[in-house]
Order: sequence, then C-alpha cells, then structure tokens
Amino acid sequence: MAKTTKRHRCIDCGSTTAKWQGRCPTCGEWNTLVEESELDPLVQALDALDLDMMPVPLSSVDVSEAVAIPTGVEEFDRVLSGGLVPGSVTLVGGEPGIGKSTLLLQVLAARAAAGHRVLLVSAEESAHQVRLRAERLGAIPPGLLILSATDVGAVIAAVTEADPDLVVIDSIQAVSIGPSVPGERRATGAPGSVTQVRECADQLVALAKARQVATVLVGHVTKDGSLAGPRALEHMVDTVLSFEGDRHHSLRLLLAVKHRFGPTGELGLFEMGDQGLNRVDDPGRLLLGDRLTGVPGGVVLPAVQGRRTLVVELQALVTPMGLAQPKRSVVGLDAGRLVMTLAVLVRHVGLPVLSMDVFASVAGGIKVTEPAADLAVALAVASSASGVALPAKLAAVGEVGLSGEIRQVTNLPRRLEEVVRLGFDQVVVPASSPTGPAGVELIRAETVSEAVARLGCGPRSR
Ligand code: TYD
Ligand code: MG
Repeated sequence: MAKTTKRHRCIDCGSTTAKWQGRCPTCGEWNTLVEESELDPLVQALDALDLDMMPVPLSSVDVSEAVAIPTGVEEFDRVLSGGLVPGSVTLVGGEPGIGKSTLLLQVLAARAAAGHRVLLVSAEESAHQVRLRAERLGAIPPGLLILSATDVGAVIAAVTEADPDLVVIDSIQAVSIGPSVPGERRATGAPGSVTQVRECADQLVALAKARQVATVLVGHVTKDGSLAGPRALEHMVDTVLSFEGDRHHSLRLLLAVKHRFGPTGELGLFEMGDQGLNRVDDPGRLLLGDRLTGVPGGVVLPAVQGRRTLVVELQALVTPMGLAQPKRSVVGLDAGRLVMTLAVLVRHVGLPVLSMDVFASVAGGIKVTEPAADLAVALAVASSASGVALPAKLAAVGEVGLSGEIRQVTNLPRRLEEVVRLGFDQVVVPASSPTGPAGVELIRAETVSEAVARLGCGPRSR
C-alpha cells in the first residue's frame, strides 16, 4: 500500500520539512510551517510548477511567450511597445481622480471587443457604478467580466474559474488577504498598508505567472509622488506606468517608468473628454491653445518626453517681495534648477531678482524637468523682470551652466523640426548648434547674458 507522506511547508521561504516544528529550520521564522494539504490553491498551483529546473543555454529559451498582444487602445500600446505580454504584471500609478479607472476600463473594453475574455476586479467601486461609467464610454462587449471584491482569495478563485486573458485589479490598495481561509498566508495590517499591498501583489504576480494571464494593478499615488504601498511593488512587477496630468486640465500623459519588454521613455497622450479618454495627435493645439502673446514673462520651449517632442509655454512672474524672505515657486518645473538659474541671472547677467518673488510654471499640466528648459526659464524670468515681452514666434532651448554658459541639449534637430511645424520662426539655441531646418532663424548665444542682450530683456541701465 502506498504510504502517504505528510510534508510541512514554510509559508515564508517555501522550504519543506517532514516534521512539523515551531520554527522553520531554513529561514528561522516562527509559526510559518503549514501542513501541505492545508495550503491554499495558489501555493499548490505554484507547487505544480517545476521549480527545480536545471540551467539551460540562454539561446535555447523559448521567446514566443513574450510577444506583446495589442489591447486596441493605441496610445496605451505605444507606451508598452506593442501591448501586454501574457503572464506579465503591469503597475499603473497615478493620483486619485486622474483617470486610471477610465483608462483601464477602455483597455478592457477594447480587448473584449476583439473577442477576448477579460476581467475587471473592482475593489473600490460597485459593479453598478462601473456599469454606468462603461455605458458612458460606449458599447459594453459581452467578454468583459466584472468581479466586485476586495479579497485576493476571491480574485484567485475567479481567475481560475473564468480563465480570462487580461485581469485588471482596481486598485491594489483596496484589496486584502482575508483571514477566512484556514492555513492561508495572512497579511497583517489594514488594506492599503505596505504589508498588505506587498502580500497581495505577491500572490497576484504568482497567479499571473502560473496562469499566464496579463495582469494590470492600479495603484494610487499621493501628491508628493510617493506611491505609499505601490512604490514597494516596483521591483516585483514587469512594467511600471505612470499616468500623469493636472486634474484641472484635459491632457493626460502615460509614461513607462520601468519596462521589462521594451524601452522606457515612450509617451502616450490622451485627452479626457465626456466619453472617456481619446488619443491626442496634435498636443501643440492643446498646450498652446490659450497662449497670450505680447506680454512679458512667456516663452515657448520644445521639450522632449520619450520619443515625442512637446512644445510647451513656459511662464515666469517676477514681483516685489511679499514677505521677509523672497519666494520661489514652480509648477511643472524643477525647483532646484529655478534657484540655480536665478543665481546665474543675478551673478552673470546682473538681473536684480535676488529680493524679488519669482514664480515659474509650465502651462497645461505638463512636467518638464530636463535641463534643456533652463534657457527658456532664464529668458521668461528676464522678460518678466524687465517688462519686455519676447517675440510671439520665439522659442528657446538650452542648458544653462553655472558660469552662465549655454550648453547643447539632446535631440536638437527633432525639437527644431517641431517648433517650425507649429509656426515658430526664431529659436534661441546654444552657440554650438548645427544648421537648423529651413524657415527658422537660429539665434545662437554662448551665454545667458548674450541671449538676454540680443532679445533686449536685460537689466535696465541705471
Ligand atoms: P477615474 O477614472 O475614476 O480616476 P481614478 O481611477 O484615477 O481615480 O476618473 C476621474 C475623473 O475623470 C472623474 O472626476 C470624472 C472624469 N471623467 C470624465 O471627465 N469623462 C469621462 O468620460 C469619465 C468616465 C470620467
Ligand atoms: Mg479609480
């Protein structure tokens, strides 16, 4: 008669022992050994995977599995260099209210419309609420399933049962590991706590790999950019996308922060409308639409985000000091670089901004942190401080060094092409710049002081 041998597995390190002990002999954790039969279905499914495989030549590894499948939402697929890979886990982070649920519902609907079975796990909103939103977005394909649940055990059961090829968990902070199943790995802390988020993600990642289902985790990020729980997940997932924008503007940016299946830096652009998110083909229209020309303090900058060039308006306002300390404030710019640029203006240009309040911003809810914005910031500040408006069709790009020199930037030809396309005819560029495209006058300047003098917005002679 075959003898059934009992095994005990450590829920922390995964090692097995024949005899139950209070402490795991491998990792030394207490009370982590569980009798094999008591393990939850996921651990058993993982067990079925061959974990003791031998090394194989890298060249013989089958890559057919890692083929991205388009979701049908073009801008989303562009950022993912093609689409979602089966078995991959993607984290989509963004501030509350930015449109994550809307974006992913559109992704699910597009995928379902192409005849696939997809599952939305809605842990924050009721099925009723989701249905109302889906109706706003268009027809609801039959292959789009919804599960309104917060328990990871229920999610695992649903995925096993329904066998979808795409699962979206909205959001990872709202799901938790319930204590109801005996022997199940329990996470301490309330839903949304780092322990819970990490434990839940751990199980969902294992589920994605075991069932080869493409999984998307939605994570809320707080204003200061710290993804409380989700930041702790970045190393566990294959891809991290950041969904950005200003809630008060309609433009939304989708960026790949980490991507195991392709390059990062690609940018997807959407516009939030009454019927969800639409792709934006010409961001210039949205970003420069309400621009006021002929007033001091504004200049246009061709910024690069991924493989796209975004022409944005940079604005500065210099006012007499309101408090005992001068105030420096930025929206969409790097605060440190503004302070540095102001120091250069004071020291090398002689602009009296030391005892002035300075505000600088990028219009349209876009963030530009690249050094190539320095020159445009310097010119906008100089223009506001001197009260001299810069020409309406002028753009500027260049990095400013601490000696007041203007340095070359990456992708200059692409930036120039885009400003020309949008009808700008003068661009202030570093002196070392190559010949520009036809139809644009390049104003080459070696230093900020020279650029300011050429544009007549320097300090007034006293
Ligand atoms: P939502 O996707 O719920 O954001 P998140 O999941 O990131 O918290 O959407 C947030 C906002 O988008 C909400 O304030 C309403 C707005 N919205 C539109 O403007 N148009 C639409 O078609 C939809 C569905 C939402
Ligand atoms: Mg949401």
